[in-house]
Amino acid sequence: MAPVGKLRAASAALKEVADGDVLGIGTGSTVAIFIGLLGKKVKEEGWDVLCVPTSYQSAYLAVENGLRLTTLDEHPTLDLAVDGADEIDPDLNLIKGGGAALTKEKVVDSSAKRFVVIADSTKLVERLGKFPLPIEVLPFARARVLRALAGMGCEPRLRDGGDRKDGPLVTDNGNFIVDAAFGEILDPHGLELEIKMVTGVVEVGLFVGLAHCAYLGDASGVRVLNRERK
Ligand code: A5P
Repeated sequence: MAPVGKLRAASAALKEVADGDVLGIGTGSTVAIFIGLLGKKVKEEGWDVLCVPTSYQSAYLAVENGLRLTTLDEHPTLDLAVDGADEIDPDLNLIKGGGAALTKEKVVDSSAKRFVVIADSTKLVERLGKFPLPIEVLPFARARVLRALAGMGCEPRLRDGGDRKDGPLVTDNGNFIVDAAFGEILDPHGLELEIKMVTGVVEVGLFVGLAHCAYLGDASGVRVLNRERK
């Protein structure tokens, strides 16, 4: 049984989808629920919907749920992107990358005319930064990126592969993830730019000014936060 907050957020976001849409689909446990619901809806309604996935996880799940895949080469502009988040601030700036899919997520989410976030309401924070910031790094540049990040006043940690993989985690793109604990992030856009300027950084898990709307679910219902993209 899916957790109620994630389920409610994912169900509410279904109304954003229309027949004929080309959709970006994010990664993570909330998106996994959304993919299941979307597959059912598309089948029931006989809709013609195409999806650009942001990870192997989302691609395989989409196919298992009867959804058809496409690419950004065929559809550089997407009608809608639906994605999860690790933290969401009141301006709908995000920290993403808890599942190591941030780079493709940022490419896909920023290619959509409308980007909708789905999450349980615990992801909403006053200020970003409690969740260590995920950064995708070229393996060849690991040492210099770690040193540069430490010089910015954070505690950078190379993410481990976990129980079933000795050594660092390797992303779907063949890179490493560094989790950088900065504490409260006062200027998300400034920090995003500063980190992106470090040679060897592939992408930063700060998504600033990209999301239009967030569906936040919990046991009492769904709250919708809106924001105009500047
Ligand atoms: C994947 O790398 C992340 O950006 C996810 O979107 C984020 O971690 C949210 O995942 P959950 O929906 O599992 O909380």
